Amino acid sequence: MKISVVGTGYVGLVTGVCLAEIGHDVVCIDTDVQKIHKMRRGQSPIYEPGLDDLMTKNIQEGRLYFTNIHKEGFKDSEIIFIAVGTPQLPDGSANLNFIENVAQDISTYVANDAIVVTKSTVPVGTNYHIQKIIQRNIADDIKIRIASNPEFLREGSAVQDTFNGDRIVIGTDDVETADILEKMYAPLNIPVFKTDISSSEMIKYASNAFLATKISFINEISNICEKLGANVEDVANGMGYDKRIGRNFLNAGIGYGGSCFPKDTQALVQIAGGVEHDFKLLKSVIEVNNSQQKSLIEKIKHRVQNVKNIKIAALGLAFKPNTDDMREAASIPILSSLAEEGALITAYDPIAIENAMDILPSNIQYSNSIKKTLEGADIALIVTEWDEVKSIDLNVFKNLMNTPIVFDGRNCFDLDLIEESDIEYYSMGRKTINPYKYTHIQQPTF
Ligand code: UGA
Repeated sequence: MKISVVGTGYVGLVTGVCLAEIGHDVVCIDTDVQKIHKMRRGQSPIYEPGLDDLMTKNIQEGRLYFTNIHKEGFKDSEIIFIAVGTPQLPDGSANLNFIENVAQDISTYVANDAIVVTKSTVPVGTNYHIQKIIQRNIADDIKIRIASNPEFLREGSAVQDTFNGDRIVIGTDDVETADILEKMYAPLNIPVFKTDISSSEMIKYASNAFLATKISFINEISNICEKLGANVEDVANGMGYDKRIGRNFLNAGIGYGGSCFPKDTQALVQIAGGVEHDFKLLKSVIEVNNSQQKSLIEKIKHRVQNVKNIKIAALGLAFKPNTDDMREAASIPILSSLAEEGALITAYDPIAIENAMDILPSNIQYSNSIKKTLEGADIALIVTEWDEVKSIDLNVFKNLMNTPIVFDGRNCFDLDLIEESDIEYYSMGRKTINPYKYTHIQQPTF
């Protein structure tokens, strides 16, 4: 089939490339000319494992094109995907400006019948709003049908998720449109769930809100575990055996970040408010998430009394491993607060440093290796659970740091191994190992 994808962020680009890979003719459209030039050379503007190779392959095989000219991109397209951003407005609701602009472009430049499919996460009712904008201007003899087809891929494993998704959700008002889209996706061999447009739009928000709820739930349990001497990891493992609960998304830590959960949970609270429903549960999920980061800062401050001039080695900056994305990363509030109070921070991340530099306070230093970051540090602070961080030889903390005191916001290390080492170790929802062992850092006064 001939397909256009508007927007080449994580969702749009991965969708376009993967649809080309399963045999469709795909044109990706973006207004950013620099980005278009880069992508034509097979270079992804985002870091996503496996994406560059697939791009190059499909460009070479003639199934994948890039353009900044809408008219050219829409030519003869049977299916047009909208995959532009819906960033958060100050009141928490979704900003639909980019979506509305694309709808306007479709109405101006599309010259044949087509199905317009919204992949972006949009509030319930947006697809009908898009339909109205398109129909306002488009020629009478052109038939445009609309569909909602939310995306469930995760950054860092987006290609893998697209080929191995749990389900494809298709929301339409007519059976024929749903059948065409099902046929388009058939080579992926993933279960398809067909529903109406509003339910499809809601499935996306409800799924992200539920996953965020799981995370905040386990984080609350983790806080209680810490006080009672239980181990949150064992608790999550024990709970996870129950198939009704499942083990996924029960990793306690410093909370969720990224471009989706924080934005979508806020948006769903707003959507609920719009129909006079006070979504108390989700409001608490958001509150718990924000307090997780503060609790790690408090732990550090409780340990050293005053962070001024304490040398902190921050390991990991991105909102999660395998991405250079810093949006809503836990590192931002945590490191900003510590830097503001005078901590001397050196930070390491395998790929997110360039993005971090634009966001984090200017007095933070950066280093290009874990070892260099740890050299002479008073405290190591683990923010992102990169494999490289999880596989640090524990002797490295002991040998390189001034005092091997580790605050692990992502529970990267096995407590039994830590217990065999001389590290003073604080993690999330698990017992502290060797508390206050290194006394030449200030002790608290109780
Ligand atoms: C999330 C969803 O998982 C995708 O299904 C969805 O398509 C995407 O949002 C979106 O709406 O576009 P993503 O934000 O890429 O994907 O990343 P996740 O892997 O879900 O992680 C989100 C955050 O939750 C990260 O900060 C991660 O560290 C945190 N997390 C995740 C935990 O703190 N604990 C967990 O057990 C799992």
